Amino acid sequence: MSQPLKPTISTDNRGRFLGVLAKQTEAPPPIWLMRQAGRYLPEYREVRTKAGGFLNLCYTPALAAEVTLQPIRRFGFDAAILFSDILVVPDALGQGLRFAEGEGPILDPIFDVTDLKRLDPKSTASVFERVFETVTRVRQDLPKETALIGFCGAPWTVATYMVGGRGSSDQAAARVWAYNDPHGFNQLIDLLVEVSIAYLDGQVRAGADALQIFDTWAGCLPDDQFEVWVILPTKRIVAELKQRHPQVPIIGFPRGVGATAGWYLQETKVEGLGCDTAMSLVLMRELAGIGAVVQGNLDPLLLLAGGTHMEIRVKQILDAMNTVPFIFNLGHGIVPETPPENVARLVALVRGEGV
Ligand code: CP3
Repeated sequence: MSQPLKPTISTDNRGRFLGVLAKQTEAPPPIWLMRQAGRYLPEYREVRTKAGGFLNLCYTPALAAEVTLQPIRRFGFDAAILFSDILVVPDALGQGLRFAEGEGPILDPIFDVTDLKRLDPKSTASVFERVFETVTRVRQDLPKETALIGFCGAPWTVATYMVGGRGSSDQAAARVWAYNDPHGFNQLIDLLVEVSIAYLDGQVRAGADALQIFDTWAGCLPDDQFEVWVILPTKRIVAELKQRHPQVPIIGFPRGVGATAGWYLQETKVEGLGCDTAMSLVLMRELAGIGAVVQGNLDPLLLLAGGTHMEIRVKQILDAMNTVPFIFNLGHGIVPETPPENVARLVALVRGEGV
C-alpha cells in the first residue's frame, strides 16, 4: 500500500484523457484498461481476502478505494476506474446476488412481471451511498493529474443477468422474455434506466470525471431488438446525464455489435465508443471519421501472452489510430492469469518509454 506513485503521473494525464474525449488527438494516446483492478494483481487478492469476498470489497469504501488506486500506483494509467460491479444495481434493488468462487455472479432470477414486485428502487439509496463514498475517497487520494471514470451496466446487459440469474453464452432467458412479453420486460428496463441515472448522477457528484456504460451483451440482438433494448434505454440515460452534467463525457461499450456501432453512436450521442477485440482497426478509423472518440481494443489474451506478438500488435494499433482521437484500452477486461509485467510493458510501449 505504500508503493511510490509512478513519475509519469506528474504529466497531466487527466487533461490528456479528457482532451481526447473532447475530440483532441494526443500522441501518445491516453491508456487505461478494463478490469485494471483485479485478480491478476497480488495486492488486489490480498485486499479481497481481507474484505472476506468480492461484494464486501465493493461495499467497503476504504477497501474499494484502495483497490481502485492499486493499478494507478503500479502503472500510472491516465485514468482510474471506480472499483465496483455492474451487478451492484440489482443487488441494491433487493435481488439476491452472490459471487461463487469460479462460477461468476449468481442472482435469484426474475421470471416474469410479477417478480418485479421483489425489486424496490427506494432500497438502492443506502447501497449507492457506499459506492459514492468510494468515489469521494478515491478522488481525495488520487493524484489530481489522473482522471476518474465512473460506470454502470447498460439496462439490457444488467437485465440479462437479472432474468437469467447468471451469465450464459447467449443470455437466452432475457431474450425470450422480451419476445413473449415486451411490455412486462420493458417495465424492468424502465426501472433500470431510472436507477442507472441516479447511480451515475451520484458518481459524478462524488467526483467522477467521465462515465462508461458497459453493454457486454449488446451484440446478441437482431436490429429491431437492439434498437428497443440497447439504443433507446442508453439514449435516455445519456440524455438525462447530459442535461444534469453537460461537461461529463460518456463512453459506451456495446460489445459485439460490429458495424452497428455507427448507429449506436449516432442515436445514443455518447462521445466515446469502447471497441471490442473483434472490431477491425479499419472500422474504428471509419467511426472516428463520423466523430466518435474510439477506445480499445487489444486482445486481453495477447496481453496475457505478451512477447513480440503483443509488441507488433500494439504498434499496429498505435499506427492505425495516431491521427484520430483515441484512447488505448483492451477489447474486454484483463483476465486473471495475466502477468503484471506484461501490463507494465504495454504501458511503456504505448508511451514510447524505454522500448
Ligand atoms: O474495470 C475495473 O477494474 C472496474 C471494476 C469492474 C468490475 N466489473 C470488477 C470485477 C467493472 C467495470 C466490472 C464490469 C462488469 N461486471 C461487467 C461488464 C464488463 C465485462 O466484463 O463484460 C460485467 C458483465 C460484470 C459482471 C461480473 N462481475 C461477472 C460476469 C463477474 C465474474 C467474472 C470474473 O471475472 O470472475 C464479475 C466479478 C468481478 N467484477 C471481478 C472483478 C474484479 C472478479 C471478482 C473477484 O475478485 O473474484
